[in-house]
Amino acid sequence: MTDLKTFLAENEDQFVDDLCELLKIPSVSTDSRHAGDVKAAGDWVADQFRKLGFKTEVIDTKGHPIIYAESEPVPGTPVAMVYGHYDVQPPDPLDEWKTPPFEPTIRDGNVVARGATDDKGQMLTHIKSAEAWIKTAGKLPIQLKYIIEGEEEIGSENLPGFIEANKEKLACDVVVISDCSQFGPGQPAITYGLKGIAYFELKLFGPKQDLHSGTFGGAVTNPANAISKILASLTDDQGRIQLPGFYDDVVPLDDRERKQFADLPFSEEKFMNQIGVDGVSGEVDYTTLERRWGRPTCDINGITSGYQGEGAKTVLPATASAKFSFRLVPDQDNHQVTAALKAHIEPQLPPGIRMELTDFHGAPGFVVPLDSPFMEAASKAIEKGFGTAPVLIREGGSIPIVMDFAKHLDVDVLLLGWGLNDDNTHSPNEKFNLADFQRGIKASAYLWQEISQMKP
Ligand code: BES
Ligand code: ZN
Repeated sequence: MTDLKTFLAENEDQFVDDLCELLKIPSVSTDSRHAGDVKAAGDWVADQFRKLGFKTEVIDTKGHPIIYAESEPVPGTPVAMVYGHYDVQPPDPLDEWKTPPFEPTIRDGNVVARGATDDKGQMLTHIKSAEAWIKTAGKLPIQLKYIIEGEEEIGSENLPGFIEANKEKLACDVVVISDCSQFGPGQPAITYGLKGIAYFELKLFGPKQDLHSGTFGGAVTNPANAISKILASLTDDQGRIQLPGFYDDVVPLDDRERKQFADLPFSEEKFMNQIGVDGVSGEVDYTTLERRWGRPTCDINGITSGYQGEGAKTVLPATASAKFSFRLVPDQDNHQVTAALKAHIEPQLPPGIRMELTDFHGAPGFVVPLDSPFMEAASKAIEKGFGTAPVLIREGGSIPIVMDFAKHLDVDVLLLGWGLNDDNTHSPNEKFNLADFQRGIKASAYLWQEISQMKP
């Protein structure tokens, strides 16, 4: 029988072919026209587990299916559970893709496709690592359980119920998630904190139909003017969020953590270059890394009102709407943000305007304890897989279900990102570095070994 290392080296092309097969399925969870594709992607993942001889279930939900699989128990060793997602964000704007989003293309050592890094490629590393063990040693060194869902990008609505209802089946010692990033190229990381989120849509309704802005403007409240003022009032010119009580429960960054961030080799210059800006801004008295990782933020995600066609049209629009979200840090509660937002907006509503506020997904922020013995195991495995020891980072993205794992299953969570910050997640030309894909599989394979040497 070949050894693990040889198997991994000999099967690199096969792993990429398999990833490309999954990337061809347009599993856009938010778009009901793609419901069949989302199901097909779930079935593809389930098939991978069946081929490995895992007990595999495709669990239908009110939304998209949850794929659950588990390998044989290995008494005397800890149980690890992998979480990942097979759904993807919409590929829009389509005309900015150099090659079609669901025709995976290899360019400059990357696979380019929607979902390449978020999360199909990263998720698959933990399936391929299991395959490597089974096809070389004949079995895994620990029991693995997998939850691969199809609703992460729309807030994981149906997963908390599944976890709560299946605590015994899902019992494990550690949850492993690869759905985030390394610190930079060649510098892997363990992410010990993610932000929470509170996402809203505000719609303002004014006159019963669009009006001539000369005849009516200045005398009738313009919903677009009104929404601009309201949105502007969410933050002040110091970058501080203005909702009442918003900062009350924020755990401040302490000196140790600020130093830890400051010691990382971060170049503001390179950061600005990467995103194509010549300056940055944010909450005063905080560095870019502190703003991105450790402070709550507010971003407008979309604004719609009035005439958007070619040329000019003098119109006073009847409605205006905006989608915006707050990223939260421990110990902020997303429900409290909703209440504070209402209290902030309602008194500002001008005469002649009616509002509708929709509260979309929410999740609290999350920081994992740094003294978990699983951290040590992960660190060793990453060093073996990537050739470099990981640094500790926090990130600004959210994985809403993480808190549920910690709460309901009472487990440690390992966030091991194989992606890069410039992978274009949620944007055109999403990519995943193929060397990192292979290194991720390797690190994952070694992780199962490291964990097998720990006490359950
Ligand atoms: N992979 C991301 C989460 C992520 C992004 C972690 C960046 C670390 C850094 C995940 O797929 C995602 O996009 N989550 C959403 C959650 C939202 C839809 C509730 C996010 O962060 O916007
Ligand atoms: Zn995402």
